[in-house]
Amino acid sequence: MTPFEQSLVCVRCAGLLDARAIRCAKCQDGSGGALAEVRVEVKKLPELRALFRERRLARSGPDRSGVWRYRELVHPGAPLETIVTRQEGETGLYASARVRNYAGLDELLLKHEGENPTGSFKDRGMTVGVTQALRDGAKILACASTGNTSASLASYSAAAGVPCVVFIPEGKISTGKLAQTLAYGAKVLQVKGSFDDAMRLVDEAAAKLGLGLLNSINPWRVEGQKAIALEVLDELDWRAPDWIILPAGNLGNVSAIGKGCREALHAGLIDRVPRLAVVQAKGASPFARFFEARQHDREARFVDEPSPETVATAIRIGAPRSWEKAIREIEASNGVAIALTDEEILAAKREVDRAGIGCEPASAASVAGARFLAAQGLMKGRVVAILTGHVLKDPENAIRGAPEPTVIEPTLDAIRSVLG
Ligand code: F0G
Repeated sequence: MTPFEQSLVCVRCAGLLDARAIRCAKCQDGSGGALAEVRVEVKKLPELRALFRERRLARSGPDRSGVWRYRELVHPGAPLETIVTRQEGETGLYASARVRNYAGLDELLLKHEGENPTGSFKDRGMTVGVTQALRDGAKILACASTGNTSASLASYSAAAGVPCVVFIPEGKISTGKLAQTLAYGAKVLQVKGSFDDAMRLVDEAAAKLGLGLLNSINPWRVEGQKAIALEVLDELDWRAPDWIILPAGNLGNVSAIGKGCREALHAGLIDRVPRLAVVQAKGASPFARFFEARQHDREARFVDEPSPETVATAIRIGAPRSWEKAIREIEASNGVAIALTDEEILAAKREVDRAGIGCEPASAASVAGARFLAAQGLMKGRVVAILTGHVLKDPENAIRGAPEPTVIEPTLDAIRSVLG
């Protein structure tokens, strides 16, 4: 099988970049400059579907991974023996009548990326990002995080036997994520400030101290996260859904899913791309505002949110780095970006939780968004909502709004009286 050729290019000027670049040296601006992305020369390959299907039977090795199974489109250049994998992917795709009715849709499928090895979608990007960083010779890996990226990086670094250092906003990440990151043995630095402050710091530290940066501004993270789209399309027998909806923070994930869908189209795997919808929390919604502004003014500029706030700490981000990639994907798919209140997000979380599926608060933004867009008559047909993180990631918010446990004497009578 001829692997597709890959090169690193600037997302703005399309100029060819050095193989280890994260951004374009020519396209510098206040936000740190235009990002690098992997350009994949995709050709139509009819045999890909059968190959991907056959690999699903594997019980071990890279084919067992729901990322590396699609390696011709993900990272054909990585020799199999260099891959750092934790058998990520193969996550559930649920049809819950309760959640579908809540959203008011005819067909709603929940892709539960919280079922990845460390409980979030980040693992799909991390397996590729860490594999490539080690091939590039990185000795210490680093990221800034609202909690999930740090847990994932900590796990993959430990699996590879390399040290990692993570920068988190002090007091602003959930207990589950902090516990995980510490347990996997990462060096945790609590930065006095927001995620955006931590991101700026790690970015500078990576450049000046030679750390391997594993945030989603790393183009290889994006390549891995494309596999969310590829796996969904595969599960739907390569018939694209009408919509894919997901929460948005730093905007790496929508950039990846959009790219994955476009490349699947070019490879002849699907015959149209799904429309993409992203949902931000109202208190941290610079991208939704930017999208709205562009409806009236094509020259509208992206403006950061200086003090982002939301209960969905995973997406408490005011200066998302991948906005340029994200707007391209939203517009290429005729998609939308919206912002909803914390109340709307938590109400949707309650439905997902009570359906027996469960997710962390940020993830529920996709279901809240589906309900909002369905009520407007914009979203219809077959919809896939991405649940990005596991319910146990944020135990405080899982307990809030749930029924209280009942304390009883250890007798049958006590049980009878409770059960009526
Ligand atoms: N959902 C969850 C559960 C997340 O953890 C994140 C991002 C997102 C959605 C948004 O994805 O940033 O690609 O737009 N979490 C990052 C982190 C920022 O550090 O774990 P995005």
